[in-house]
Amino acid sequence: VTVKPWDAITEMDEHNRPIHTFQVCHVMEPNQNNWLRSNWIFREAAQKVYVEMRFTLRDCNSIPWVSGTCKETFNLFYMESDEAHGMKFKPAQYTKIDTIAADESFTQMDLGDRILKLNTEVREVGPVNKKGFYLAFQDIGACIALVSVRVYYKKCPFTFRNLATFPDTIPRVDSSSLVEVRGACVKNAEERDPPKLYCGADGDWLVPLGRCVCSMGYEEVDGSCIACRPGFYKAFAGNIKCSKCPPHSYSYDDGSQLCYCEKGYFRAEKDPPTMACTRPPSPPRNVVFNINETSLFLEWSPPSDTGGRKDLTYNVLCKKCGADQQQCELCGGELRFVPRPQGLINASVTVLDFTAHANYTFEIESQNGVSDMSSFPRPVAAITISTDQGGVSLVGMVQKDWASQNSIALSWQDAEPPSLPVLEYEIKYYEKEHEELSYSSTRTKVPSVIVTGLKPSTAYMFHIRARTPTGFSSYSHKFEFSTGDEGKFSNMAVDQGHVLVIITAAVGGSTLLVILTLFFLITGRTKCIFSGSSDSSTVPFPGIKTYIDPDTYEDPTQAVHEFAKEIDPCRIRIERVIGAGEFGEVCSGRLRIPGKREIPVAIKTLKGGYVDRQRRDFLREASIMGQFDHPNIIRLEGVVTKSRPVMIVVEYMENGSLDSFLRKHDGHFTVIQLVGMLRGIASGMKYLSDMGYVHRDLAARNILVNSNLVCKVSDFGLSRVLEDDPEAAYTTTGGKIPIRWTAPEAIAYRKFSSASDAWSYGIVMWEVMSYGERPYWEMSNQDVILSIEEGYRLPAPMGCPVALHQLMLHCWQKERNHRPKFTDIVSFLDKLIRNPSILITLPESPGDVPDYPMFISIGDWLDSIKMSQYKNNFVAAGFTTLDSVTSMTIEDVRQIGVTLIGHQRRIVSSIQTLRLQLLQAHEKGFHV
Ligand code: ADE
Repeated sequence: VTVKPWDAITEMDEHNRPIHTFQVCHVMEPNQNNWLRSNWIFREAAQKVYVEMRFTLRDCNSIPWVSGTCKETFNLFYMESDEAHGMKFKPAQYTKIDTIAADESFTQMDLGDRILKLNTEVREVGPVNKKGFYLAFQDIGACIALVSVRVYYKKCPFTFRNLATFPDTIPRVDSSSLVEVRGACVKNAEERDPPKLYCGADGDWLVPLGRCVCSMGYEEVDGSCIACRPGFYKAFAGNIKCSKCPPHSYSYDDGSQLCYCEKGYFRAEKDPPTMACTRPPSPPRNVVFNINETSLFLEWSPPSDTGGRKDLTYNVLCKKCGADQQQCELCGGELRFVPRPQGLINASVTVLDFTAHANYTFEIESQNGVSDMSSFPRPVAAITISTDQGGVSLVGMVQKDWASQNSIALSWQDAEPPSLPVLEYEIKYYEKEHEELSYSSTRTKVPSVIVTGLKPSTAYMFHIRARTPTGFSSYSHKFEFSTGDEGKFSNMAVDQGHVLVIITAAVGGSTLLVILTLFFLITGRTKCIFSGSSDSSTVPFPGIKTYIDPDTYEDPTQAVHEFAKEIDPCRIRIERVIGAGEFGEVCSGRLRIPGKREIPVAIKTLKGGYVDRQRRDFLREASIMGQFDHPNIIRLEGVVTKSRPVMIVVEYMENGSLDSFLRKHDGHFTVIQLVGMLRGIASGMKYLSDMGYVHRDLAARNILVNSNLVCKVSDFGLSRVLEDDPEAAYTTTGGKIPIRWTAPEAIAYRKFSSASDAWSYGIVMWEVMSYGERPYWEMSNQDVILSIEEGYRLPAPMGCPVALHQLMLHCWQKERNHRPKFTDIVSFLDKLIRNPSILITLPESPGDVPDYPMFISIGDWLDSIKMSQYKNNFVAAGFTTLDSVTSMTIEDVRQIGVTLIGHQRRIVSSIQTLRLQLLQAHEKGFHV
């Protein structure tokens, strides 16, 4: 075995650059064993080492006579060692890595052409454990030039991924398993999920998991977390950007996590940092009150500045002050506030159980979620309400308007604007000469009165006091007035309403009208004779219940349960659908009341898919109905609110609604029966008006009739009923109003009152007496409004007694205070029922007719009652003048070709009125 060294030779490559090589080429000699060894190589972190060799190798075939000795491979060896120096080369200590063959060997020709056929071979070594190692190349007889040896290992290099850094990582020797590496969050970032990467055998990072996010006050910019600038903030860790400070807040420093509130602004504990800073609200505005016998309703407008928040509530503080406003004390627990005094969500509260003779000061403060944070005192809106009218006369100067021999008409003004509404006045009077004997008193709701039943030419003393919800005021000064001489009026002309009626009575000469007029003059002014001092009780009308508007309850469900019983739905058996309401079907069925027999009921249902507002509107009717208890008001049995469907259960009325019932039974009833129905409706309405409830939609369609012909008022719900009523039309002021049934002041400026209900009652009377005819027939709403304005009133329906038409006309007085009260109507109808002879008179006497607009031709007349289509029938039959038609009977009307019974009725009813007008006109000397 020969051992020869490898030679270090520098050659030139094809570009003439020097190449340093180690060469050996002993191809002609057998048994070669020539070694080349590297220096000690530091292993560093490597576990597996790669050796890349570039070399050239001579093709043995291209060399002559070397066939036994020439080789085309060499061997690669290594030896691990912790020692870097002084190792003597001992081949036996080396481990063979591989035999290296050339992919391409070169020939003599290649040499001549200076073509270098360079081979590159790579071999893995490992695992290596010692500090370093040597490589050795063994030549066994080849012709080799070793051009380069590159020794390296692989690693996954330091990297940033998902805001985390990952260090240099050496892959496992076992190439099939990965190294899991935990990342470290970059500065100002925090782990969201632990960030991880896996290092693969080839030094590649694989499978990124988890991540870091920029901390509060920092945002990500190009893989780093950068502080928010002043004026910006970031309140949460996460991949979001810094935000501008919300309104009324600021930040001065870099990296702000929160913005600070400006002076006077605050953040409530639960306010998110993203929310604007807010401030306490300004005080409520425009506090007003409304008082009746039992309750004081306070209402106000929301503050002009809510402080930028939505959690606005109100607190009401009550102070009770004596006569002198200085001495005030907190009201204590004697007052009840509905729904409560503190934390009110709606801008209103009802106060109950207040006492008379006190000054209450109510301080209302608005409050929101930051009110407690401000050190400023809370501004309040205050209102002082005096419930003490004692000691003060609310009545000023009393004047005599006129006097007759038996009557004196007085009027007066309120002394000063009263803080409480005046409910009525009491007029006490006595003969000046005989005070000690007796005095009389009468009451009126308006500041005027006609005192009747006096002696002629006699001096009387009058004094007057006012009644407010909390009691009577003191009496006014005494005023002396005398009645006139026999047969004379004095001071005529002021109180037109009364004067007009009296004159009409005097001139018209109709006994009926006199009865009616005097009836309404006298009723309602109870004449009492006292023998002692006056009754100055401070509890007015004890026991009279008043209606409570369910909308004053903050929680509508509470109102329903206050006034309506909850019915277990298993006690209800629905049998048939009998109609469709605005909210769902109306059904008939049966209700089992524990301990009682089953009763028939009507069931109104609220169909599914309703919104809160619809449920509230639906149940409002029950909250109203539940407050009433009267034989002529539809009775509420209860409600189902705790299960679906929501239901309102009321007594069943076998004959349904009055308008359709009458249409179905046209001409079937006696006048007394019809008056009986009207009396029932008036009685129900009297009850409602006494309760302070204004119906607004009184019409025959809203009256129900039971099997005994008892009529009951139904359809409650204030604004809702109007929405629901197909007759309701929009007015120019935007409200929805059933024009034909509504008083002019309610149409014009929504002045709804019991007096406007009385107008509607007059229309119901007309509907009843005409068996369900449509008021004003087919006239348009606009024409109805105009003709009422011009003084036109519906004529008496056919067969309607004068007394009833007169009552209708009374209800349709333009001046609402002149209309009869329901109590008067009930008494009048009672009289008619007791004395039916009054009902015999049908319209024929000229004194009983109001001044209707006159018509000058048949055409005008037919136009006015919307019967123009029959003009030709009249003319063809020879009826060419108005005079000629006045003698027509219903049979004549039918014979000229008016076949529809409704049209016949309308024409005949109008002929009756026409006849009276013409008679009047003739009497006055006119020719029509
Ligand atoms: N339709 C509406 N309500 C009714 C009732 N109570 N009875 C009969 N029919 C009705």
